[in-house]
Amino acid sequence: MIKTLILYESRYGSTWEAANIISLIMGPSRRYPVSQFADACRDFDLIVIGTPIYNGKIHPKMATFLENEREWLDEKKIALFCTCLNGSDGLRVLREVEDSLGGNVLELGILGGRLEMDRLNERDYQALTKYLSKEGLPSQGMDLFNREEIIDWALRLKDIRDDLLDKLPLSELRGDVEKFLKQRNTCTLATASHGRIRATPLEYIYNQGQLYILSEGGEKFANLLSRSMVSVAVYDDYTDMDNLCGMQITGQANIVEDLDEYSRIIKMKGMSMEFIRSLPLDLNMIRVNIEKVEFLNSEFKKQGYSSRQVLHF
Ligand SMILES: Cc1cc2nc3c(=O)[nH]c(=O)nc-3n(C[C@H](O)[C@H](O)[C@H](O)COP(=O)(O)O)c2cc1C
Repeated sequence: MIKTLILYESRYGSTWEAANIISLIMGPSRRYPVSQFADACRDFDLIVIGTPIYNGKIHPKMATFLENEREWLDEKKIALFCTCLNGSDGLRVLREVEDSLGGNVLELGILGGRLEMDRLNERDYQALTKYLSKEGLPSQGMDLFNREEIIDWALRLKDIRDDLLDKLPLSELRGDVEKFLKQRNTCTLATASHGRIRATPLEYIYNQGQLYILSEGGEKFANLLSRSMVSVAVYDDYTDMDNLCGMQITGQANIVEDLDEYSRIIKMKGMSMEFIRSLPLDLNMIRVNIEKVEFLNSEFKKQGYSSRQVLHF
């Protein structure tokens, strides 16, 4: 598991709020303002540094921190983000920081900031009025803070982090994923459409990158008919933190219309088409084409790999 430290500085709360969102999505993580930086912070693997842009520069406390902690940071993977009102300012400033940190910066995030004139102290008010008139902007508050933008950036960073995991050889991982899915038969299928969500416990059978599910019908179909994207969870009961085992699957679900495919899966499940036809109700079949598996398994850690592994089908 890669632990992420989010180190930030914020004067009026926007960067703090962005740091909170990023920390939630990047967990396992911890967030600290740089003023509370402690030795324990050096144990983290990925360091996310967040700063507002003030007068074309990063926050002075962050600048001092980066100067003083260079040696230690040189050993780490880093991502940088800023909140600002002028994206090209933000990009220029973060590129300067990136250059000063060497080749270990993985990603930059230029995020919209927020400005409430009536909250500014006198010095910032004066500095800002000057900045706004230089930029040809009206002397008034601005709100470019956008949660979705921050969430998208954090999700991108999470993918980048997953690439840093100590990975199992691909064929071995695929084998382990298939074994896990074949040895179990119950999943939670999560479907969503506009304004509706549904998590349904169901029996499944795994076959060559696909899950097949039989169902008499229900609300999940209301979602599937308008949105085929699904998330499926298959997991063992919790015992303790050293024995975690479960997976989250992302895939596309479709209703099986093809009779040959339907019959083949019915046979694979040990039933006959005669039996299916003898039922008083229709039995619908859902096929989930697996696209991505996120597999958390404590056994991987015992073998010297990351307990979290990601497999793209
Ligand atoms: C005095 C002052 C100067 C600023 N200078 C810049 C700037 O040069 N470039 C920019 O893009 N935003 C500038 N901003 C906007 C801030 O970067 C933005 O409001 C940021 O989200 C504030 O972060 P915080 O709420 O975490 O303190 C300035 C804001 C103030 C108050």
